[in-house]
Amino acid sequence: MMTLPEQIAEKLTDALRAELSGALPENFQALVVASQDLRYGDYQSNAAMVLAKSARKNPRELAQAVVTRLEGMTEAEVSLAGPGFINFRITATEYEARMVAMLGDERLGVPLVKHPQKIVIDFSAPNVAKPMHVGHIRSTIIGDTLARLARFMGHIVITDNHIGDWGTQFGMILWGWKNLLNQRELEHDPIEALLVTYKEVNKRCKEQPELLEACKSELVRLQSGDVENLRIWERCIEVTKRGLQKIYDQLDIHFDYWLGESFYNDALEPLVEDLLARGIARESDGAICVFSDGTHKPKDDPFLVNKEGEWQPVPAIIRKADGAFLYATTDLATLDYRIREFQADSIWYVVGAPQEKHFKQIFDIERMRGVTGDFRHVAFGSILGKDRRPFKTRDGETVSLQDVIDEAVERAARVVEDKSPDMPAEEKATVAEAVGIGAIKFAELSQNRLSDYIFDWDKMLSLSGDTAPYLQNSYVRVRAIERKVDDPDFTAMLSGDVRPKIDLVEEREINLARTLARFAEVVPATLDDCRPNLLASYLYELARAFHSFYEACPVLRSTSSIRISRLVLCELTARVLHLGMSLLGIRLLERM
Ligand code: ARG
Repeated sequence: MMTLPEQIAEKLTDALRAELSGALPENFQALVVASQDLRYGDYQSNAAMVLAKSARKNPRELAQAVVTRLEGMTEAEVSLAGPGFINFRITATEYEARMVAMLGDERLGVPLVKHPQKIVIDFSAPNVAKPMHVGHIRSTIIGDTLARLARFMGHIVITDNHIGDWGTQFGMILWGWKNLLNQRELEHDPIEALLVTYKEVNKRCKEQPELLEACKSELVRLQSGDVENLRIWERCIEVTKRGLQKIYDQLDIHFDYWLGESFYNDALEPLVEDLLARGIARESDGAICVFSDGTHKPKDDPFLVNKEGEWQPVPAIIRKADGAFLYATTDLATLDYRIREFQADSIWYVVGAPQEKHFKQIFDIERMRGVTGDFRHVAFGSILGKDRRPFKTRDGETVSLQDVIDEAVERAARVVEDKSPDMPAEEKATVAEAVGIGAIKFAELSQNRLSDYIFDWDKMLSLSGDTAPYLQNSYVRVRAIERKVDDPDFTAMLSGDVRPKIDLVEEREINLARTLARFAEVVPATLDDCRPNLLASYLYELARAFHSFYEACPVLRSTSSIRISRLVLCELTARVLHLGMSLLGIRLLERM
C-alpha cells in the first residue's frame, strides 16, 4: 500500500507531465508534504512553482491547469492557493477506505523500503570495569529503537556491542584483582565489584605514585601476553558481559555480536603499516598520524581547528611514539571488518556528541582509503539533573544504568500500589516493570536526541502528558472499551469474515482516522532522520486524538452500524499504539 502523500504525488506528477509534456524532466517526482495548517487541507505541494520557471509559465496559471486536471481525483479535493500552492483535502471516503485497508494489513499501512540495506548499528558499547554512565543509557535506548525501526522497514540489521575491553584501565584492574578484589562480591554483582576495585586503586594511586608504576607494569605484562594477566583479563570480560546481559535482558535489548575493542588487536599493526605505505599516514614526533589531505574547505576539515584566526592541524593519532595504538586505530580496523565480513552498506554509530570529531576523522580517513559506504554518527546530547547540571547521584557519583532501572521500577510500583491496590501481587510486579522501564525509554525517546535533556522522575512517571504511563494507560482504556462489547458483527469483522463498513461523519472521527493513516508516513520518516522523537510525539498525538474522539463520539451507546465503525477506529488505535510502542521497545499491557 502506498502512503497518502505518495499516492497523491504520483497523480500530481502525472498531471504535471500531461500539462508540460516534454518540458518535464524524465525522472521528476513532485513532492507532497503534510500541511502545517489543516484549514488549507491535509497535504500541499509547491511543485507547480518549482517547475513554472524552467517551463516559462506563470506559476499560478500552471497550478490552476493542474488543479483542473486533478478534478476527478477521488482521494482529495484539490484547490489552488497563494502564488501557486496546490492543496489537497483528503475526503472522508478516502480515509474510510484507508481504515479498511489498515485493518487487513499487519504493517498497518507502513510500506517496506524499496532498497533494503545491510546496516550495522553500533550502540551501548560500555567500557569494562568502568561505570556505564548516562551517555551509555542514551546510546543503549536510542540504538535499540533504531535497530527495531530499521528491521521493521525491511533492512538487514546487525547490532554490535563494541565494548571497551582493552583500555589502560586494566593496569589498575589487574593490580586490584590481585591485591584487593572481593571474590564473593564479584560473583554477586560483577560490574559493581570491578568498578569499586577500579575506583579504590585509582584513589590509592593518587596518594602513592609507586603504585601507579606497579599498575603500569601489570598493563605492560598484559599487552605482551603474560598468561596469568590474560586469564584475569578474560575473567573480567566474562563477568562483565554476564552482568551487562542481565541489564539488557531486563530492557529487552539484544545484540547479534559483541565484538569489543580487543577483537581487533591483531589488525592494528598491519593497518598502520598500510596507511603509512599508502602515504595516508606519516610520522610526526615519533607518533604515526593522519593529517588533512586538503580536500575539504578548512571549516569542513576534521583535521583542522581554528585557533585565534588561524587554521591549525589536529591530526588523528593512530600509533603513539611508545608504540601504543589508540581508539581511532581500533575504530578504523572495526570499520574495515564490518565492510569486509558483514558486507555492510551502512554503519551507524550511536555515540554522544563529544565524539563528533573522532567520527568525522574516521570517516574522512576511510574516504582517503577509498572505502565507501553510508557512515553516520548518530549523536546525542547529555542528560542533566533537574538543576540543569550533569545528572549525578546525591553523592556526586555517575548514575549507573542498573540503579536507574531499579529506581524506575520501584517508583512505578508505588504508583501501581496507589492506583490499583487490589491487583494480585504478581501482576503488580509485571505492571511496575513495564511502566518503570517504559517510562525511562519513552522519556529518552521523546527528546530531540541532539539536545540535552532533563531527567525528571515525576514527569516521566506521570499519568498525563507525553509519557509512557499515559500511553500505556490509553491503550488499556481502548482495550477496555472493546472488551465491553459483545457484538458478533464486530467479532466477525475482526476475524476477516465480514468486510468492515466505516462511516466517518463527525469532525473528531475524521481527525482520528487522519491521525491513524499518518502512521504510515511517520515510521519511515522517523528512521530516515534517526529521530525516534518523531514517532514518540506522533503516538502521543494519536492518544490525544483518541481521547477527544471518545469524549465526543459515543461508541458503546450508538446504534449498531455506527458502533461498528467506531469500534474499528478503537481497534486501529490499539494496533497502532501497540506496534508504535513496540518499535520504541516499550511494552504495553492489556490491563493495568
Ligand atoms: N566505549 C566507547 C565509550 O564509552 C564507545 C564506543 C562507541 N563505538 C565505537 N565504535 N567507537 O565512549
